Amino acid sequence: MRRKLIAGNWKMNGLKAQAKELASAIFAKAGADMPFDMLVCPPMNVLGFVSELPHAGVFVGAQDIAETIKPNGAFTGDVSAEMVKDLGATWTLVGHSERRQYHGETNALVKQKAINAINTGLTVVICIGETLAEREAGCAVDVVCRQTRECVPDEATAENCVIAYEPVWAIGTGKVPTTQDVAEIHAAVRNELVKVLGAEKADQMRILYGGSVKPENAKELLNVDNVDGALIGGASLKADSFFAIAEAVR
Ligand code: 13P
Repeated sequence: MRRKLIAGNWKMNGLKAQAKELASAIFAKAGADMPFDMLVCPPMNVLGFVSELPHAGVFVGAQDIAETIKPNGAFTGDVSAEMVKDLGATWTLVGHSERRQYHGETNALVKQKAINAINTGLTVVICIGETLAEREAGCAVDVVCRQTRECVPDEATAENCVIAYEPVWAIGTGKVPTTQDVAEIHAAVRNELVKVLGAEKADQMRILYGGSVKPENAKELLNVDNVDGALIGGASLKADSFFAIAEAVR
């Protein structure tokens, strides 16, 4: 039985005052007795600050880490996995489509970041998903299977790695795939994980859905076969809507 994970990606949102208000509201509502795991990924400027607030029942993660395995060195602007850990975070996202789109991140680079995260003791959420053009060309399944194959490292286990399927065209657009389409992709990703990691690890690994998840569609999406949680952008920026989505797990 895979425990569901409700994850919030704040993206580039959160000056100190806003981050404090949002994190405090989320942490006040959360508790160690929730029947699901919860993760928040604030931007780097407030990551240390948020992880220093008491946050029982909620994991805190970064949105990205450096490609280099080096814990420090001449890499201007980069923040290493070691540094993220030092800030008090225990998780990180890698390979978000906005990183792939705006920073040219490739599958090989995403895999390297995933290895760095795991080797540093962080749990990694590897993001995958097809573009609109790829979906319209009928190759969504091929794209996500290839991303799974090329991004998930051998060291990945259900404890240190989660996959997040986020169709690029559904992110921030209010559009969501049909539940049949979500089921098809999640089953294909699970199947690919079997090939990469073996049946046992693949069966235990969580696969999240992300892209315009809202309180109104959460129950439907979270009930799809092989959907083990949600990665939420916009609706994670308000504690009420974030928890309204999480409540769909109960
Ligand atoms: P939205 O929930 O705003 O569509 O964003 C999804 C996302 O990209 C989370 O990583």
